Amino acid sequence: MKLSRGQTIVVATHNPGKCAEIAELLAPLGLAVKSAGELGLPEPEETEGTFAGNAALKARAAAKASGLYALADDSGLVVAALGGAPGVHSARWAGPGKDFGPAMARVERMLKERDARDRSAKFVCALALSSPGGETEIFEGEIEGHLEFPPRGQKGFGYDPIFVPQGMTRTFGEIDPHEKHAVSHRARAFAKFAAAMAPK
Ligand code: IMP
Repeated sequence: MKLSRGQTIVVATHNPGKCAEIAELLAPLGLAVKSAGELGLPEPEETEGTFAGNAALKARAAAKASGLYALADDSGLVVAALGGAPGVHSARWAGPGKDFGPAMARVERMLKERDARDRSAKFVCALALSSPGGETEIFEGEIEGHLEFPPRGQKGFGYDPIFVPQGMTRTFGEIDPHEKHAVSHRARAFAKFAAAMAPK
């Protein structure tokens, strides 16, 4: 699949913050962006068991409904000692109020219950690009690290205050956004997408 400069694509999200972040990452590629929310597209239920599966499901639904190419992302925290949880349920663990305090406490409690010494974890981001005809390509990025409790830092979002990326001592909640964006799972997935879309 190839996209050309000036082309409009749909970002398959109803979250204005996520759409703005993705539009910023896509601007250097010369792509114009509309969000699924803006186009009034329905929000499909995330029923797949993998990040790639859920990203593909969202991208395909948006491409089919809009007749445009669509880009979707799905991401989350994968904790080794918890068998990969919260994984694709990362957002759901925060409940309808999107409160990540209890979600981070749940991770800590589960590690204690299992007497787990292994604190390794990673963030994963899967990006899916779908054509209106249903063709789909996936780009994945990961950042490895470990968890520390109690949570530290106010700068990020979600599980950032408990995640210390490999080679660093501060959590993602303590470092500046530009430092996080230089190494994050999302940045790595976008770098793969941008490399695949760049004219050869
Ligand atoms: P999604 O919108 O279904 O992809 O949900 C992603 C969820 O994973 C978010 O709500 C966060 O809980 C978590 N997550 C993904 N990326 C990050 C990150 O960079 N920092 C902290 N939490 C993240």
